[in-house]
Amino acid sequence: MKLFAILLMIAAPAFAASRNNQERVENLLKRMTLDEKLGQLQQSGGPVEGSLDLVDQAGKGRLSSTLNVRGAKAINQIQRAAVEKSRLKIPLIFAFDVIHGYRTIFPIPLAMASSWDPAVVESASTLAAREAWMDGLRWTFSPMLDIARDPRWGRVAEGNGEDPYLGSAMARAYVRGYQGDDASAVGRLAACAKHWVGYGAAEAGRDYSTTEISERTLREIYFPPFRAAVDAGVWTFMSAFNDLDGVPASANHWTLTDILRHDMGFKGFVVSDWDSVLQLIAHGLAANEADAAKRALSAGVDMEMNSTTYMKELPSLIKAGKIPMAVVDEAVRRVLNAKFALGLFEHPYADESKKAGAPDEESRTVARRAAERSLVLLKNDNGVLPFFPGIKKLAVLGDLADDGAAVLGSWSGDGRPEEAVTILAGIRDAVPETQVVFSSETVIKDADAYVLVLGEKGDMSGEASSRAYLGLRGEDLALARGALITGKPVVAVLLNGRPLTLTGIVDEVPAIIEAWQPGTEGGHAVASALFGKINPGGKLPISFPRTVGQVPLYYNHKSTGRPAEDENHFTSKYLDAPVTPQFPFGWGLSYTKFSLSDLRLSAPKIARGGSVTVKASVSNDGAMAGDEVVQLYIKRRGVSVTRPVRELKGFSRVALPQGAKKEVAFTLGPKELGFFGLDMRYSVEPGPVEVFVGTSSVGGLSASFTIGE
Ligand code: BGC
Repeated sequence: MKLFAILLMIAAPAFAASRNNQERVENLLKRMTLDEKLGQLQQSGGPVEGSLDLVDQAGKGRLSSTLNVRGAKAINQIQRAAVEKSRLKIPLIFAFDVIHGYRTIFPIPLAMASSWDPAVVESASTLAAREAWMDGLRWTFSPMLDIARDPRWGRVAEGNGEDPYLGSAMARAYVRGYQGDDASAVGRLAACAKHWVGYGAAEAGRDYSTTEISERTLREIYFPPFRAAVDAGVWTFMSAFNDLDGVPASANHWTLTDILRHDMGFKGFVVSDWDSVLQLIAHGLAANEADAAKRALSAGVDMEMNSTTYMKELPSLIKAGKIPMAVVDEAVRRVLNAKFALGLFEHPYADESKKAGAPDEESRTVARRAAERSLVLLKNDNGVLPFFPGIKKLAVLGDLADDGAAVLGSWSGDGRPEEAVTILAGIRDAVPETQVVFSSETVIKDADAYVLVLGEKGDMSGEASSRAYLGLRGEDLALARGALITGKPVVAVLLNGRPLTLTGIVDEVPAIIEAWQPGTEGGHAVASALFGKINPGGKLPISFPRTVGQVPLYYNHKSTGRPAEDENHFTSKYLDAPVTPQFPFGWGLSYTKFSLSDLRLSAPKIARGGSVTVKASVSNDGAMAGDEVVQLYIKRRGVSVTRPVRELKGFSRVALPQGAKKEVAFTLGPKELGFFGLDMRYSVEPGPVEVFVGTSSVGGLSASFTIGE
């Protein structure tokens, strides 16, 4: 009783505030003309600096939001027109793609997912929000929560990889980081879960391509990170570009309304992706702009980004009775409610005395730590790394080593390549006593050791950057060959926005660090790892294929009726390549050595609603402190539908001093054990459960228990 009273007291102010907002929304709505209502559903792609046209539209109450305009002064100029000139004085909300940093750039999301440390994501997005806020922004189009199983798709860089459990943990961290407890607070932004939904399943990995995803796979693989974002209180969603089983995501009533609003209970508003309403015509769904507007709005897209079909076409549709005014009102209501909740009516203006400046010590510290924790040691034969101390002459090879844009990657906000620490600069800072020589094209013959910096240029991944070949560039391979011929220690550092196929280095080069696009402080982080100041502890959030022909390739696949067997021809495999990945999901080495032991379950059998505790010990048996990510997977059989060969259901990144041992505990309850059965309902089915505790998605300790009837 006492606890309940306390809870009520805590909950009361928030409830009162939202009721108050509801009244304010309704009062406003009553006074709005149709033109003003449609204005609230329009976001303009407009120019960065703003324009007289935007000011004019804002003054007429015909604009709700902009994306790309930034800087307090430019923003205030437009806002002043809305708040002081327009009839109802409704403020605009200013948005921008703050994806992995604003001015200080953090590792790309795929890299931060490799940290398996949601705290990394939370601190990076908190800082990104603060910088963007100083430039007048109040809304970011992040996080991107698309599950991606196909590295040809360039946007794998922007997401959290292939797994829904890891993706959900990261989704929560992004939303918390941007929005905090209260998205209206100083330094916070409204977040946007995108792209709803299935966009990452683009056929053949070609961006914007059609998707065909079964309902079960949608529910189990593609929806969960979005659900996690809703549960974390995300304010907005973005509807995706892709055709989803015949109904493009921006016209899909089932996903936008039935699932998102009714099942998941989302209370914020949905913005379309750039022109995705207009593109319903190109999809071949909408006959014309009026039809596109009707389909998108009726499906549940509240605000239109860039294209203007709502503004142009809804008046006649409403007049003709083809769309009820109530549908428009509901969309406007959602937008206004968010604007009230985000405090825009109370604080519409940006503080012009503030400006997001160059990265400072604090932001660089956060960026460096994020980059360090995101590094994945893919290979380290004979302990080549960390480098032996006192190298006299070190050669750093490859154009990417000296390329600021290559460490920032795509969607780098207002980040500046010249403010980024390149790999070359990071190495030079780390070993001032060593002669560091650099060549972008030729191999320096007389060095004591070689660092090859290989991979992709900054613009080779991201939106519209799909690739059909995932191999290293010819010039990179030539450098690798040249360095290996010297017989001196050679290591490769990869800068890339997606998994690559590593033929030409993976068997030849003894040590490989996956640095992804590690952001403003990337060079320092990589150098710290090369020289052993830190010990890499990241793990892959996405599988690395051996060859493009294996794609899509992901760890949580189904078994098939004829799982691959070397000795049996008629099994599911290739004649010319193995079925296994080059590096599996969850993979990553360390300079020290870890072992797992003592796997224990709290019970051999549980009831259907019950839970089991899984415990194991991890010890650091090597010669250096380090981190291990202990991973928990399950496998079901004998249930109503086939299940993946493994599913991640828990993880914990553990830091252990040399010689230390620690117990790790996980709980498997209804949330982890349930799935969508034959009846497409989420439930826990009885039967055996295999449990694996390991350091990647392959191998590990195993045990089993039973779920009773
Ligand atoms: C992308 C979105 C992005 C939007 C606004 C679109 O092309 O798909 O992810 O938020 O542009 O820049």
